[in-house]
Amino acid sequence: MCGIVAAAAGSNIVPILVEGLKKLEYRGYDSAGLAVTGAAQIERVRSVGRVAELEAAAAGTASPTGIAHTRWATHGVPSERNAHPHISGSIAVVHNGIIENYESLREELSAQGYVFTSDTDTETIAHLVEALLKDEPDLFRAVQRACRRLVGAYGIAVIDQRQPGKVVVAREGSPLLLGLGADGNYAASDASALLQVTRNMVYLENGDIAELTVSGVRIERLDGTPVERPVHVSQLSAAAVELGNFRHYMQKEIFEQPEALANTLEIVGGSRSIQPGIFGAEAGSLLQDVDHILILACGTSAHSGMTARYWLEAVAGVPCTVEIASEYRYRCSVANPRQLIVAISQSGETADTLAALRHAKSLGQLKTLAICNVPESAIVRESALRFITRAGPEIGVASTKAFTTQLAALFLLTLVVAKVRGRLDAAQESAYIDQLRHLPVAVNKVLTLESEIEGWARRFADKQHALFLGRGRHYPIALEGALKLKEISYIHAEAYPAGELKHGPLALVDASMPVISVAPNDELLEKLKSNLQEVRARGGELYVFADADSEIPASEGVHMLRLPEHYGLLSPILHVIPLQLLSYHAALVKGTDVDKPRNLAKSVTVE
Ligand code: F6R
Repeated sequence: MCGIVAAAAGSNIVPILVEGLKKLEYRGYDSAGLAVTGAAQIERVRSVGRVAELEAAAAGTASPTGIAHTRWATHGVPSERNAHPHISGSIAVVHNGIIENYESLREELSAQGYVFTSDTDTETIAHLVEALLKDEPDLFRAVQRACRRLVGAYGIAVIDQRQPGKVVVAREGSPLLLGLGADGNYAASDASALLQVTRNMVYLENGDIAELTVSGVRIERLDGTPVERPVHVSQLSAAAVELGNFRHYMQKEIFEQPEALANTLEIVGGSRSIQPGIFGAEAGSLLQDVDHILILACGTSAHSGMTARYWLEAVAGVPCTVEIASEYRYRCSVANPRQLIVAISQSGETADTLAALRHAKSLGQLKTLAICNVPESAIVRESALRFITRAGPEIGVASTKAFTTQLAALFLLTLVVAKVRGRLDAAQESAYIDQLRHLPVAVNKVLTLESEIEGWARRFADKQHALFLGRGRHYPIALEGALKLKEISYIHAEAYPAGELKHGPLALVDASMPVISVAPNDELLEKLKSNLQEVRARGGELYVFADADSEIPASEGVHMLRLPEHYGLLSPILHVIPLQLLSYHAALVKGTDVDKPRNLAKSVTVE
């Protein structure tokens, strides 16, 4: 979502702010801005569009203290007047999140004579701090008092022209961390923005407020209690966020999947058996009497959960339900304290998933597990058990390597739950481990199909609609293929379990409708073949992703691509890869902004 960078240092920090914003740009990108304390007044530069435009506009600006922001519009359209920072008198504010009581605050502040120049909720924070500074001249104290009035989720950074050399930041609900550098101190919403200056990070907790100066930082709670937070040395690799030889982050991340899977599965080591402890020290006892699994997630992460349901029920024999987090959190549901709640999230900060997890816990369901790519995230911190996928930073908005590593983690969960329930013998366990270990190699082989898939993408990049079909554990893969295609190429795509075709969607099929089918050689292949014939009989053009040994011949109107290996239960992990490549290349042909598709943002930290 939106991104924040702030700095109080010994020399000009504008290049650091801009570089930090570039690293955060993937999170939100309809506008950007920065403000610094100047010679006589706050100097602010804002622009609609990319950080590169802001960089050009800020060429003449220099200061040792400043704040910066990339925005993904929530309140008010993307425009320069709505871009952050927002100014009131001598202060400037940047903000991530949503202030829920901004309308009442706006009325109150308007009545005091403050004039609003934007449609944002953020501007209320600027005026509120300015108003409080009249009674409380210390910026830190004024921001602390202001935060006590705010309802909602926020990460903010504030500077005051009258108190140069100082930045005050606070968080409640939105991520914010401090970076302790040699030549100054910094803050950002994501560690990747600060790797350019330091690896020493301090993660703020909800309700923390901090003051940064060139010489140090101090942290208090909103009630004024001083607190110390531990310093973490970030292990993030700076190279992990560089594009390297790839054209787009999405392409890079698709090709990183063998390594991401290998890293994620490293936890199994050379062992022939998997221990519950890989999910946390208490996993053995906590999983003992689990009688149901409820998976909560959004978007692509929900698709990994849907795939896992097939594994958990078939291999571990445990009933499993998958629910979209934004639905579960507002639904009256029947609580079951023995069910395991699994929250799946790449970012670990998705507001709906976090709220669903909290809701599940509030109903007395305390057996919780986070499957997440960001170790320090809120979803991980608030779960009893955790499994950290080691996909590395995912920058492209469309999730790829996070998805396949989630699937690997969920298969490990399946094996652990099966073992705890006495449903996995040593020989089966060992065979599954072998298959998992071979996955990176198998994925590499699938990636060699790229040029053929590129050819397919060229054929249907001019189509308006596409239909994806799959059956069983490949139905969620069809859903994921359709989601990828629509979000980055803007081609309308739908996915159906192939058996459902004749119950309605077949009416859509004609020669202009490409039908993409996930067709591995599994127990449902024969059924799927009949469904594909139903499509051909209506003139639909078929694009079939089969296995080396799926007996489907190519013929007129039936295009075939065979994945090199047949992969049994784990086949969804291989079969999603050509679909990722297909949407990537369709988007390239269409010329869309692959890494930053319109209207979307990475890490959706608002409802
Ligand atoms: C699609 C995509 C989104 C995310 C969803 C959940 O490519 O990336 O659908 O999967 O917003 O995000 P996380 O996994 O961070 O909770």
